[in-house]
Amino acid sequence: MVVATVCAAQSAGVACRRRQIASAAGRRPQRVFAVATGPTSRQAAPAQPPPAAAPAPATQPAEAQATRPFRIPRSLEEVDNGQILGFSADLSEDHPGFHDPVYKQRRVDICNLARTHRIGQPIPRIDYSPEEVDVWRTVMTELQQLFPQHACKEFLRCWPMFGFSPDEVPQLEDLSAVLTRATGFQIRPVAGLLRPRDFLNGLAFRTFHSTQYMRHHSSPRYTPEPDVVHELIGHVPMLADPAYADLVHQIGIASLTADEKQIWHLTKVYWYTVEFGVVREGGGVKAFGAGVLSSFGELQHMAAGRAELVPLDVAAPLPRMSYKDGYQQRYFVLDSFEEGAAHLKAYCRTLHQHLPDDVRVAVGLL
Ligand SMILES: [Fe+2]
Repeated sequence: MVVATVCAAQSAGVACRRRQIASAAGRRPQRVFAVATGPTSRQAAPAQPPPAAAPAPATQPAEAQATRPFRIPRSLEEVDNGQILGFSADLSEDHPGFHDPVYKQRRVDICNLARTHRIGQPIPRIDYSPEEVDVWRTVMTELQQLFPQHACKEFLRCWPMFGFSPDEVPQLEDLSAVLTRATGFQIRPVAGLLRPRDFLNGLAFRTFHSTQYMRHHSSPRYTPEPDVVHELIGHVPMLADPAYADLVHQIGIASLTADEKQIWHLTKVYWYTVEFGVVREGGGVKAFGAGVLSSFGELQHMAAGRAELVPLDVAAPLPRMSYKDGYQQRYFVLDSFEEGAAHLKAYCRTLHQHLPDDVRVAVGLL
């Protein structure tokens, strides 16, 4: 998810304090930028669960109000994947698993594997239960009926690369290896919803942070947060397409030197493309956003053509992200991923004035 997307603001002071300690311990001094920040907030839980299987967006600050330091990561190791937002082990009352202690413990156990994972280690394999496999089978079976007509050609081309089966929940380690061969992207396990800056920074290093836990069995077609179904069916196949992967990479690069207002704008760019984007194809419109591709209802809604279609201008102000209102009432449409990536590169150049050369090399700009 997402990014998926994203976020409630954490105390920047804690992160800054941690960096100061690291520097005092003899690590290379980090360049710290003073930037604007929005108000601290918690992720808003949907008042009524929408039928879309998409990650929940954060409460959306109206204006940046204060300064907040941030550090440009020089490697993936410097991208923090430990600050998890939104749902904790207790979940919230509107989460389908709120009254299920067995589910809560299962979720905690899987999240703990992600918390202790280190870059370079194999991603822990999950022995999914028959109940969890049933959830996977239900969602995948329904979606597969819609993909041929409504998924974009890039998705349909990449889907067979992963050998998805309705009878087995794929393992992140196996899919990551396929992705790396295809586009250089890799998967890093994460315990839940990341801060937007951290999630977007990971994309700059061609790394997609993915959850491994399964949505609750009582609600296979709905999850209020990213889960393994959303990540693997919605996101992973698209990341195997070179032009799409370049688009996502550009969003990540743009985030490296972005201040808080720019991070919020990029979060919206991500939301309206990677999560809910559509692309023109053969005189029609096809889905490429993971929030559409991983939701039976959202995909049918898009195909019905009742939502507004708007060209995406990545530099222009974008509307408030809509999640609690159910299906998207507006889709931003690309003519192609190549064109989208080109526009993002142009936008990136307006943000890159402080990007050090070693980081440019690390993310493939030089
Ligand atoms: Fe997502």
